[in-house]
Amino acid sequence: MRSVENFQFIACGTAYHAALVGRGLLEHFGISAAADFASEFTDRARLLGKGTLVVAISQSGETADTIFAVREAKAAGARVLAITNTVGSTLTREADYVLHTHCGPEIGVASTKAFLGQLAAIYLVAGHFAAVKGRLDKTDARAYADELLRIPRHIEEILVREPEIEKIAASFSSSEHFLFISRRLNFPIALEGALKIKEISYVHAEGYAAGEMKHGPIAIIYKGMPLLAVAPSSSALDLMAGNIEEAKARGADVVAIVDEVSRKTIKAARYIVLPHTKEIFSPLLTVIPLQLFAYHVALAKKCDIDKPRNLAKSVTVR
Ligand code: G6P
Repeated sequence: MRSVENFQFIACGTAYHAALVGRGLLEHFGISAAADFASEFTDRARLLGKGTLVVAISQSGETADTIFAVREAKAAGARVLAITNTVGSTLTREADYVLHTHCGPEIGVASTKAFLGQLAAIYLVAGHFAAVKGRLDKTDARAYADELLRIPRHIEEILVREPEIEKIAASFSSSEHFLFISRRLNFPIALEGALKIKEISYVHAEGYAAGEMKHGPIAIIYKGMPLLAVAPSSSALDLMAGNIEEAKARGADVVAIVDEVSRKTIKAARYIVLPHTKEIFSPLLTVIPLQLFAYHVALAKKCDIDKPRNLAKSVTVR
């Protein structure tokens, strides 16, 4: 850890969204990090230096794109840490270091608990690294660990609210387009919310950086278009509130994912209210209602949730 200067995440699909959270988290601590799709990594691999730790994230540990990118990174002289759920997988054999997420077998094709497991591993790596590099002193490191330990209890509180989420999802069961927006550390969660809907409900969904909406995508908003705004307490909350107003003015039907504090700032037709946590930990909570939302939209549409069409749990071709 002491010889690591910066991080390069590589991953595919949902794991890539975990990678984006990892990048944001490390940057929060002032540590340089990049995140790329494993399938788009080729040229960048050659630019890696010895001080870069490549973090390859893969639930299955068998994704061909990720394994190929790891080989390229190693050929360039970088060290590789694998974060995977699968003991003995190809990725574990190729990597220099391995962190197993130990989530248990994930049956559904669309990654859910594995995503949370990846995030948990990333939060541990980032927190530890920040402490090693002196970016978190002893007291702050303890507070960081304590907040992380509170997350499972918060998640249980969210799960109790499933019937509310089901009701909202049912009201959108015939919608053909969904928008998910957020900012900063929750932008990857907006991407993940959209991916979950696409994977298991077969409808068009886009995740977008809220601040980018005005540069084009706002044109597609029509009256009644479902827009899920991930807006927990954050330093970008006022900007987020403004983006939601802009979408509402064009007719978006907004469901805001807020916490008890941010709810006071965000004005939306409907809310999913989460327990409050510090800004940097919020992705661990905001993704839960989006996973449940996608599940209930798919259920209402009578889709095969565990085995969605056209997809495979583990993609071993490039
Ligand atoms: C497939 C699955 C996705 C998954 C991606 C990466 O496309 O359908 O749910 O996110 O592969 O899988 P991995 O096993 O590398 O995390």
